[in-house]
Amino acid sequence: MAPTCSVNLHECLDLVTRLSRQAGKLIRTRIRQKKTIETKATSIDFVTETDQEVEKMLIEGIRQKYPTHKFIGEESFAAGIKEKLTSEPTWVIDPVDGTTNFVHGYPNVCISIGLVVDCEAQLGVIFNPILDMFFRAIKGEGAYLNDEPITVSSSKCLSDSLVSVEHGSIRTDEFRSIVSHNIGYFAKHAHGIRSGGSAAWNLAMVAKGACDLYVEMGLHAWDMAAGNIIVREAGGVVIDPAGGEFQLMNRRILAASSKELANEIPSNLKQYYPEHD
Ligand code: IPD
Repeated sequence: MAPTCSVNLHECLDLVTRLSRQAGKLIRTRIRQKKTIETKATSIDFVTETDQEVEKMLIEGIRQKYPTHKFIGEESFAAGIKEKLTSEPTWVIDPVDGTTNFVHGYPNVCISIGLVVDCEAQLGVIFNPILDMFFRAIKGEGAYLNDEPITVSSSKCLSDSLVSVEHGSIRTDEFRSIVSHNIGYFAKHAHGIRSGGSAAWNLAMVAKGACDLYVEMGLHAWDMAAGNIIVREAGGVVIDPAGGEFQLMNRRILAASSKELANEIPSNLKQYYPEHD
């Protein structure tokens, strides 16, 4: 029998649903206003006051109910609070995934919250408050968009697929040349390519069956913790872009509608291995 999770996942989901809807109101108001922008790791890795405020709201709200739980949050990490992933229940949070979209008023902006227990994804929530799209999954219970069940598409090969890619925020020549090569490969062989500007959004689109494949190298655990479980619960496959097992802290992801499609991709990609967080 599969081991049961030590936390009550339905109570956790109720809590983060309430908190994300509350935080979503702030994002909806602020997207129309002038923002104060700072940069982090690179000149195009942005943070705004809203990212910081939303992360604080979420962490404080969760901590009130679960004082012993751990947190890996994008903005706490940037501020020097660098928690490692352990077997303890850990909330992995991106308060505004798609910060560049948020800065420009482009509507692909998501709150992304994943809960990992014993190093295994148990729950994920992705909320786009601008488009009012709320994606959620609990391990073993399927994936939902606004309370309707969702499933991945039936695509089994690249030549039938729509692919999400990102240019990311790393600016080195090596990285740019690898990304350009991989995007060129998809552009040549797929139905089309899209760039949502939010990893969480891209993963939600694979889960919803609106896109068949998403590959990115150089993102972070908070960009993909929720999407990883939502794609799997929608019947999709999540692996490392080189073909091995997906590792949340390795900063690389390949999410696909099927095993066949996932397996077709790795040998055709140039690989980039970012430094671990
Ligand atoms: C970024 C977005 C973007 C992806 C970057 C992420 P942020 O997250 O998800 O789509 O290409 O790798 O860092 O900074 O907007 O939270």
